[in-house]
Amino acid sequence: MVQFTLPKNSKIEKGRVIDAAGDAKRKKTFIVYRWNPEELDENGNTLNPRLDEYTIDLDKCGPMVLDALMYIKDSIDHGLTFRKSCREGICGSCAMNINGTNTLACTKDINDCKGDVKVTPLPHMSIIKDLVPDLNHVYAQYRNIEPWLKTDSSAPDRERLQSSEDANLLNGDDGRGPSGCILCFCCTTSCPSYWWNGDRFLGAAILQQAYRWIIDSRDEATGDRLDQLEDPFRLYRCHTIMNCSNTCPKGLNPGKAIAEIKKLMLARS
Ligand code: SF4
Ligand code: SF4
Ligand code: FES
Repeated sequence: MVQFTLPKNSKIEKGRVIDAAGDAKRKKTFIVYRWNPEELDENGNTLNPRLDEYTIDLDKCGPMVLDALMYIKDSIDHGLTFRKSCREGICGSCAMNINGTNTLACTKDINDCKGDVKVTPLPHMSIIKDLVPDLNHVYAQYRNIEPWLKTDSSAPDRERLQSSEDANLLNGDDGRGPSGCILCFCCTTSCPSYWWNGDRFLGAAILQQAYRWIIDSRDEATGDRLDQLEDPFRLYRCHTIMNCSNTCPKGLNPGKAIAEIKKLMLARS
């Protein structure tokens, strides 16, 4: 079952039911998590989160779940809040949980959703509002692995070159190497180890990014990068459950990247 971090002392209530489809031929109901920290009761306490139900005419919106959310926001409920930008599965900002699976709303076809479509935020994240998770912690963890090229040697006259074989390690023969990660955090937030130890375990997305820099032939800080990860929590809280790889909407394999880091650790011990 999907779990996510509820605001303190709250429980999810049934929300509003809005039928905006009339006698449309192609109707679909979207059940959407709503929570606004600025909505207070008469005693000044934050209201409980709720699940609002919107039934819409699919002939009035585009084919993806993000299109439905945009239609609901534009035509029915302007307050509905979610992130999105590219609409092409590139920016990672529309990551959310759709019918129990973390994925990108812009690449999730409504036709692939059986029955009602339940839309909730990424699991176990603090929520800023509605479907918008607080990403400050995961980005602090990203900063922690120093995701930039580190070198000691003097800079060449032109760019630091890399063979196509070395570039392939990053890109993958099938384009699904670690550099294809869009930092959507679907993987990280699907991982039970991260749910329980996310304060110290770096999680799948960030470890895969760390791996991306470890194997970059132009980077000269491999030893330091491995030293940084040599820790019972940062790396070794991964128990190879593989939820992360199963959920990645880009078809990447962060679980394998983590296993490769562990192998490199063993090889140098
Ligand atoms: S392999 Fe499992 S434990 Fe490791 S990061 Fe992925 S989901 Fe989490
Ligand atoms: S590995 Fe996949 S699921 Fe994880 S952050 Fe990158 S693109 Fe998203
Ligand atoms: S809006 Fe950019 S990935 Fe969905």
